[in-house]
Amino acid sequence: MKELKSAPNLKHTELKSWVSEMIALCQPDAVYWCDGSEQEYNELCNQLVEKGTFIRLNEAKRPNSYACFSDPSDVARVEDRTYICSKREEDAGPTNNWMAPKDMKANLNPLLKGSMKGRTMYIIPFCMGPLNSPISKLGIEITDSEYVVVNMKIMTRMGSAVIDALGENEEYVKSLHTLGAPLKAGEEDVKWPCNPTVKYIVHYPEERSIVSYGSGYGGNALLGKKCFALRIASAMARDENWLAEHMLILGLEDPKGKKDYIAAAFPSACGKTNLAMIIPPDTFPGYKVTTVGDDIAWIKPGKDGRLYAINPEAGYFGVAPGTNYKTNPNAMETIKANSIFTNVGITPDGDVWWEGMSKEAPEGVINWKGKEHDPNSGNPVAHPNARFTTPASQCPSIDAEWENPEGVPLSAFVFGGRRSTTLPLVVQSYNWNYGVYAAATMGSEMTAAAFGQIGKVRRDPFAMLPFIGYHMADYFMHWLEFGRKLKNPPRIFSVNWFRKDEEDNFIWPGFGENMRVLKWIVDRVNGKTAAVESPIGWMPRYEDMDFSGIDFSREEFDKIMTIDTEEWKKELMDHQNMFEEMYDKTPKDMFYMRELLVSGLWRTSKKWKANG
Ligand code: GTP
Ligand code: SPV
Ligand code: MN
Repeated sequence: MKELKSAPNLKHTELKSWVSEMIALCQPDAVYWCDGSEQEYNELCNQLVEKGTFIRLNEAKRPNSYACFSDPSDVARVEDRTYICSKREEDAGPTNNWMAPKDMKANLNPLLKGSMKGRTMYIIPFCMGPLNSPISKLGIEITDSEYVVVNMKIMTRMGSAVIDALGENEEYVKSLHTLGAPLKAGEEDVKWPCNPTVKYIVHYPEERSIVSYGSGYGGNALLGKKCFALRIASAMARDENWLAEHMLILGLEDPKGKKDYIAAAFPSACGKTNLAMIIPPDTFPGYKVTTVGDDIAWIKPGKDGRLYAINPEAGYFGVAPGTNYKTNPNAMETIKANSIFTNVGITPDGDVWWEGMSKEAPEGVINWKGKEHDPNSGNPVAHPNARFTTPASQCPSIDAEWENPEGVPLSAFVFGGRRSTTLPLVVQSYNWNYGVYAAATMGSEMTAAAFGQIGKVRRDPFAMLPFIGYHMADYFMHWLEFGRKLKNPPRIFSVNWFRKDEEDNFIWPGFGENMRVLKWIVDRVNGKTAAVESPIGWMPRYEDMDFSGIDFSREEFDKIMTIDTEEWKKELMDHQNMFEEMYDKTPKDMFYMRELLVSGLWRTSKKWKANG
């Protein structure tokens, strides 16, 4: 076994012995400790180009950028292969797959044995959050994928500085990743190695460790992201009184310079990146929106009784299809250079293309399966979950405080799912507890990307269903208790951009126009606008919102703001079903709040409207 590169300053004996153990188990041909330098990044990218994994894009059009195609069996997170292996089954809860840690280890060990044969083992020291932040946490990812190393370089703070921060005995999250595709002596590698049949994404919350086997894609392989920053971190947060959430963080500055920060949770592919980078419409002169994060927030109480949030990531791993200069100009500017594109189309002149970038696919574009696109085939050019990996620092709207080690103070939480009916454009919860109720019961209609029946509502509490590292009902309780201790809690709002008319069209224009909803939210927080009490919370009247510059009528407003009693009765039945599935641990508060919502609805007309 060759040591290609060592870590000269490594003083952490426990880490050394864990790495030795993993070398003995996985049996790589070589070991390489990553230093996180530009030079290292460039060398690995060159290596990926030589192997045929990466295609270097046109230097004039997309400088220092690469595209690649994954194996068609390896295109997204694998929720049915994801496990929370807590010691006790009741600590994983009914929404997670569970296996006893010793059984899972007995199961994984034969797979891991020799899993890196013919490959190099990379050791990636990384930090989630700014290196000097008291909220940040350290990790080590061991991987046999060069693709993972270069993506981790963009997505995290990685390299030698983390070795220094680890000192002799600092805590870190052990993250082992293998493609599960060992090479026999002399066997030539494929462009996207992975294990097409066996995949495991395993978390040991008590040990704070992760093992990922068989996939090289996104959240399955970049272990700092969902595995660490959400699943393991949510268990840490429960124990240490903080929050790890699937939330974007944005700053909203008014013309007078008053700034409020908002953290917002939406399920995967429901518009976090879009909202985090929103540009206010022309009719909002002097307003500015800035971006702190687009996917994950770590949130701690400050001494002043407010909540402070950091983005633990350093880059964006964003959905490419649908991103264009109209829907998200800031994202388009961010990805102009120094980016990696996975499963997008490649144009004959060496640039990238995906559905929605322009009306028609450019002639001769190569699709994500590496073949020339046939416009008559009905197949898309880019995979629907095609993604860009890009440095956050390149975002034109990046917030001046985005790396502030203390985080940014939150004024509001926003929760939103994809619902074509029932849920209004915006509603403010009566108080913290009702906000927790609204977040716990949020849902999203299934799109093709998710499992199950298209159109059916899948309950996705706090947009955390695939990401909670412990029992969902214990998580509800954590939020309730957490709020009780806060002197200055953020206000809580629910939004829904996705209500549809009879012809299946979105009624609300969305995207940049969502600024109008954000403005009402901060105005509420700052006591600057009125609201009326509906059966489910505080809602704006038509005149309380700013619709200047768009053609949005009172009738349309009514369509997306009406509380339809019949629809809500069904909705509340569905809430009850979810709570009963975790009855033993569901906080009783949830059942009582539900009862109050039911009786409130009984007392209102069939269709409640803010303007009467
Ligand atoms: P993950 O990275 O998977 O966690 O997702 P995300 O929440 O960052 O998703 P993203 O921003 O990539 O969501 C993109 C999808 O949301 C696309 O289908 C967009 O068209 C849609 N979308 C975003 N904002 C709006 C909106 O205001 N209205 C409508 N109708 N669709 C929107
Ligand atoms: C999500 O699915 O919510 C993502 C993409 O942000 S991944 O990191 O692949 O999980
Ligand atoms: Mn996400």
